[in-house]
Amino acid sequence: MICIADSAQGSSGSPFPLGPPEPAIRQFDGRDIATVSRIVGEALREHYDSSLYFSLSQAWPEGFLVAVDVADVPVALLLGVAQIPGEARILMFAVDRPYRRHGVGSRLMDEFLARSRQRGMHKATLEVRVGNTNAIRFYTRYRFSVMDLLRGYYSDGENGYQMARDLLSTPFPWPGRAKP
Ligand code: ACO
Repeated sequence: MICIADSAQGSSGSPFPLGPPEPAIRQFDGRDIATVSRIVGEALREHYDSSLYFSLSQAWPEGFLVAVDVADVPVALLLGVAQIPGEARILMFAVDRPYRRHGVGSRLMDEFLARSRQRGMHKATLEVRVGNTNAIRFYTRYRFSVMDLLRGYYSDGENGYQMARDLLSTPFPWPGRAKP
């Protein structure tokens, strides 16, 4: 099992006072590897060999999504895998810092949950650092619940939460974020 660390937190420092142009969502492509690696390195503080992205994209191409700017360059990614029948696991999820808090992550999550359901999956899971309050807030609004405490899950010793949500009980189309 791959253990994915996350996440850098902090202020956005957005260069888009009126909000960035709305990114389009598409499947990951081999040309995206360098940019995706950079975003993962900065946001999740992890560095993986390019071959990992390639092999995971081959396993479930529809589950590896990127949000791209007007030049078709990724500004965010959501890498989902289908290791357990009926379950979609979110392995990596990150938005490039200038694009955070503008709804990009929500658009990626909406698309991923819809695709997971279309594939007949009944459950979505993920792991997150216990200290990553911003991401936990995001996931909670998406109706993920903490299922387990994963002691020493991350390479630096931090504990993780396993979170999960049911995919069948929510009617289609997805309502997206739960209201706080
Ligand atoms: N502070 C407080 N709440 C936040 C924050 C924040 N910094 N970021 C997101 N949220 C919550 C809010 O409830 C927000 O709604 P609001 O803006 O109406 O208050 C809601 O999430 C939706 O926000 P989006 O704009 O759609 O989310 P964003 O595009 O910023 O993506 C993400 C969220 C992926 C967590 C992004 O902030 C990020 O890349 N963070 C750093 C990397 C990270 O932590 N990734 C997840 C690790 S776990 C894993 O990879 C499986």
